[in-house]
Amino acid sequence: MTAQSIAGPAIRVQGLKKSYGKLEVLRGVDFDVAPGSIFALLGSNGAGKTTTVRILATLLKADAGTASVNGFDVATHPADVRESISLTGQFAAVDEILSGRENLALVARLRHLKDPGAIADDLLRRFSLSEAGARRVSTYSGGMRRRLDIAMSLIGNSPVIFLDEPTAGLDPEARIEVWHAVKELAGHGTTVLLTTQYLEEAEQLADRIAILHQGRIIVNGTLAELKQLFPPAKVEYVEKQPTLEEIFLAVIGGIDKSEVTGTTTGGRG
Ligand SMILES: Nc1ncnc2c1ncn2[C@@H]1O[C@H](COP(=O)(O)OP(=O)(O)O)[C@@H](O)[C@H]1O
Ligand SMILES: [Mg+2]
Repeated sequence: MTAQSIAGPAIRVQGLKKSYGKLEVLRGVDFDVAPGSIFALLGSNGAGKTTTVRILATLLKADAGTASVNGFDVATHPADVRESISLTGQFAAVDEILSGRENLALVARLRHLKDPGAIADDLLRRFSLSEAGARRVSTYSGGMRRRLDIAMSLIGNSPVIFLDEPTAGLDPEARIEVWHAVKELAGHGTTVLLTTQYLEEAEQLADRIAILHQGRIIVNGTLAELKQLFPPAKVEYVEKQPTLEEIFLAVIGGIDKSEVTGTTTGGRG
């Protein structure tokens, strides 16, 4: 019923370009995502994260380049791509009037799965929503809603899930709840492409992090690899790991770090 997982990268993006009128948003984006991993596409507001996700989800056509998901080319096999993916994030697809359990069971029924009630109960348990399961979604907090939305995206076992800024607009506590939900996804072998503006979110969740900046991927690596890109401080009494924010600022380059971080290095003013 679901598309089979394939050998090779779960997502492959090569030379992807997209403009809106004169605005060149993607200027040749390349990255691969390994099956079963969490990949964070990190970028500021307007960097082109949603544009990339929409192309991968077959909702938008690229101007140039190729992209494949689960081995299927988004341009030539869009139906197979759609069968392979689940998309969730900034918008929540949940029905407010139904309970959490009813929402889950409804999606399971729509997907013609056996025993929708049992599927709903299992997902409620996995996303710590069992107690709230019988309540209307309209009574849920932002974090609970987002967790339910992610749980719904799991029904049907899509091999690839896109989470476009899953914690946008959530308070810190709800954000941590959603992080647990995302870790839960990858723990079950699902490939997750996550977009975020939050450096800490990428740091917490991702196996690999790619920074999308001015239309290109300017850095792509594990957190450990990214940390190595950051030049170590010459004289430091206590050894301190650079934060992802410092790495980000260092690699986007051309900016005097002392001006950005406000560090006083002497000789200014
Ligand atoms: N349909 C559209 N028409 C014109 N400009 C758009 C459209 N969608 C997005 N943009 C612009 O493209 C840029 C990238 O948008 P987006 O991919 O949504 O970025 P992100 O998700 O990283 O915040 C932004 O400057 C945005 O205003
Ligand atoms: Mg976006």
